Amino acid sequence: MRLLVTGGAGFIGCNFVRHVLAQRRNARVRVLDKLTYAGSIDNLEGVLDDPRVEFVQGDICDQAAIETAAEGADFIVHLAAESHVDRSIISAEAAVQTNFVGSFRVFEAARAAGVSRVLHVSTDEVYGACEGEPFVEGDPLNPRNPYSATKAGADRLAHSYFVTHGLPVVIARPSNNYGPWQYPEKLIPFFVWRALSDEHLPVYGSGLQIRDWLHVLDHCRALLLLLEAGEPGEAYNIHGGNERPNLETIRLILDELGKPESLIRHVEDRPGHDVRYAMDAAKITALGWRPEIEWETGIRATVRWFAEHREWMERSVARGKAYFEEWYAGR
Ligand code: NAD
Ligand code: TYD
Repeated sequence: MRLLVTGGAGFIGCNFVRHVLAQRRNARVRVLDKLTYAGSIDNLEGVLDDPRVEFVQGDICDQAAIETAAEGADFIVHLAAESHVDRSIISAEAAVQTNFVGSFRVFEAARAAGVSRVLHVSTDEVYGACEGEPFVEGDPLNPRNPYSATKAGADRLAHSYFVTHGLPVVIARPSNNYGPWQYPEKLIPFFVWRALSDEHLPVYGSGLQIRDWLHVLDHCRALLLLLEAGEPGEAYNIHGGNERPNLETIRLILDELGKPESLIRHVEDRPGHDVRYAMDAAKITALGWRPEIEWETGIRATVRWFAEHREWMERSVARGKAYFEEWYAGR
C-alpha cells in the first residue's frame, strides 16, 4: 500500500503514520508537510529512520508540489490544515488558503494520479453548535467560526468531486482529539504547559462549553478503517463518547499535575464560541469501530506525556510566540 499523508508532521499526522507503519507491514508512506509553526520533524522522531518512510517538505497549495507528491500513490490521507479556531479568528487568511484552496489542490492531484482512495479529514465543527440531539451525517452543516467554515467548504468540495468526477473520496468527521504530540495551543497541552509553569489557565467564559474527546490512537484506528473500508462519497462521524464540560477536563489536568484550582481564571470568551459539539457515531460503529481508550486513563497518561516532554513543548511554544503574545494579551 503506497500512501501519501499530507500534514504528516502534525499532531494527528505523526500518530497516524506511526499507526500505519505498525499495522501494515507492506505500507510505503510519503509525508508531505509544509512545516508551519504546528508541524515539526521532531514529531516524526523514530519514524524517519524507517526505510518505508519518505519525507517531503512542501505546500499543498502548490499544485506542482502536491502533484509530484501524489505520483505513484494508491491512497491519500489528507490531514494538512490550519487547525486552530483562535488563530482563524485573528486572521482567516491562512485557513482559507490551506483548508479550502489547498484541499482543492489535493483533490485535483488525486484525480491526476488516479488514486484508489482519498480520505479527507474534516471535523465535527462543520455541524456547528449542537443544541439538541447529536448530529448525524446527513444533517446540514452550520459552521460558525472561520476555521470551521473553511473545513465545511472543503468537506463539501470533497463530496462534489465524488459526485462530479467520481473521485473515490471518503470523509471523516472526528471530534476533539487528545494525545501525544498535540501542538500546545490546544486546550489540553496548552493548559499543561501553563500549569507546569504555575501560570494562570485562561478559561474562556464560563468554562461550561462541552467538547467530546477522542484519543488520537482511537482516531487513527478509525482513519485506517475508513481508508480501507469506508464507502466512497460517504461521510463518517468519529465520536469519542466522552462529552465533558471544559472545567471538568481542566480539573483533571490540575489533579494529575498536583496543581491548585486557584490557577483557573475565567477570561473574555472566544467570539462565536460553540457551546457544545456532539455527534452520533452509529455509522462507523456499524463498520466495527469503537473507541477503546477510557477517558480518565487516557487524559492522565496524556498529561504525563506532556510533562515528560517539556523540551519538546518549549520548542513548540517558541515557534508560536507571536501568536500567544497577541491572543492572550489581557486574557
Ligand atoms: P496540526 O495543526 O497539529 O497539524 C497540521 C499539519 O499540517 C502541520 O504539520 C502543518 O505543518 C501542516 N500544514 C499546514 N499547512 C500546510 C500546507 N499548506 N501544506 C502542507 N502542510 C501543511 O493539526 P492536527 O490537529 O493534526 O489536525 C489534522 C487534521 O485533522 C486537520 O485537517 C484538522 O482540521 C483535523 N481535525 C483535527 C482535530 C483535532 O482535535 N486536532 C479534530 C477534528 C479534525
Ligand atoms: P481548542 O483546544 O482550541 O479546540 P476547539 O475550539 O477546536 O474545540 O479548545 C477546546 C475548548 O477549550 C473550547 O471550548 C475552547 C476552550 N479553551 C479555553 O477555554 N481556553 C483556551 O486557552 C483554549 C485554547 C481553549
